[in-house]
Amino acid sequence: MTTSTRFQILVCDGPSCGLCLNSEALLEHLEQRIAASDSLRDRVTAINLTCFGRCDDGPNIMVRPLAEGEDGDCEPDIDAIEGVRGLYLGMDTERIDRVLREHCEGGQPIEDWVEEY
Ligand code: FES
Repeated sequence: MTTSTRFQILVCDGPSCGLCLNSEALLEHLEQRIAASDSLRDRVTAINLTCFGRCDDGPNIMVRPLAEGEDGDCEPDIDAIEGVRGLYLGMDTERIDRVLREHCEGGQPIEDWVEEY
């Protein structure tokens, strides 16, 4: 079962995740996976956000549901991500594929991995 929820995926490009841990490669991987998927292409957007404050645990991403009419290409205010249970730490391409499958397609956060911001 595929969810109809629209999601924005925020990929940290802060100094640790970005410069030291090359999160840019994760964003490119996400963009390729999303573009190649009929079920993700029109619902899921991935952009950068600078620093979740969990720099020692990176590279980090957040999956957040988009509000009705909200533009997924716009960086959200901090208020919009506070309290969101969608923070995933220590990501790599395999973990990202599972997040796309279970959270973004299936609509179910991965309970063993996800944290609240
Ligand atoms: S640099 Fe990624 S959480 Fe701070």
